[in-house]
Amino acid sequence: MLEVEGIHTFYGLSHILFGVSLKVEPGEIVCLLGRNGAGKTTTMKSIMGLTPPKQGSIKFKGEEITGKAPYLLARKGIGYVPDDRRIFADLTVGENLEIAARKAREHEGWDKERVYELFPTLREIESRKGGCLSGGEQKMLAIARALMGNPELLLLDEPTEGLAPMLVRTLEEQIKKLREAGLTVLLAEQNVRSALRLGDRGYIIDNGQIRYQGSIEELRENEEVRRKYLLV
Ligand SMILES: Nc1ncnc2c1ncn2[C@@H]1O[C@H](COP(=O)(O)OP(=O)(O)OP(=O)(O)O)[C@@H](O)[C@H]1O
Ligand SMILES: [Mg+2]
Repeated sequence: MLEVEGIHTFYGLSHILFGVSLKVEPGEIVCLLGRNGAGKTTTMKSIMGLTPPKQGSIKFKGEEITGKAPYLLARKGIGYVPDDRRIFADLTVGENLEIAARKAREHEGWDKERVYELFPTLREIESRKGGCLSGGEQKMLAIARALMGNPELLLLDEPTEGLAPMLVRTLEEQIKKLREAGLTVLLAEQNVRSALRLGDRGYIIDNGQIRYQGSIEELRENEEVRRKYLLV
C-alpha cells in the first residue's frame, strides 16, 4: 500500500530525515514510534506532500507519488489527520463533516451516518460548534473528517496525545475498528503502550533515522531497544 524508500527531508537548510524507509501493507496498522522531535511528524508530512523530500521515493499502491500535491494525494486515497487537528471552529460538528465529504469510488463509502456509528459521541454533539469541543471530541472529529474523504490509507499523527487514559482506550478501540473496516493505518506515536496495544508492526525513528523495525510482539519483548530510543 505504501512504500517509503530512503527519503531525505529538509526544513530550509536543516536536514531532518536521513534516508527513512518504511512499508505499510494493506490492512495493517503500522506504528511509527519515537521521542519528541525524532521526526515522526516530518515523515507524515513528507508522505502527504507537505514537506516533499529532496531525495528518495514514496510509492502509494505501486505508483510514484513523491512530490505530488497534498490535494492530489487526498484524491488518490490518502487521508491525513495532523497532530494539530485543524477543526473549523465556526462550523458545527455536522458541518465540519459535510464539507469533507467526497464520493467513494465503490459503494462501500463513508458518510455521516457511518461515521456517527463509529463515533456515537459526535452524533450527540452534531450541532455544537467546532470551537466548543473538548480535546477528545476534537480528536474524534479530526479522524471522522478524514474518513469522510474515503481514504484507503490513513496517516494518524499522535491521535491520543494529551487525552485522559479512559479516552485513550476509547480512541484505541475506534482505531481498531478502522482496521476491521478495511482501512490501512500509519500511526505516529510517542505513547508506546498505546502502540503496543494497537499495532501490527512498528518502526522506531530517532534523530531522523529508522533505528528499529519489527512486529509488535518483537517490540514488546525488546526492552533494550525501547529503553534506548523511547525511554520506557
Ligand atoms: N517547521 C520547522 N522548521 C524547522 N525545523 C523543524 C520544523 N518542524 C520541525 N522541525 C524540527 O525537525 C525535527 C523533527 O521534528 P518532528 O516534528 O518531525 O518530530 P516529532 O517526532 O513529530 O516530534 P513530536 O513528538 O514533538 O511531535 C525536530 O528537531 C524539530 O525541531
Ligand atoms: Mg510530531
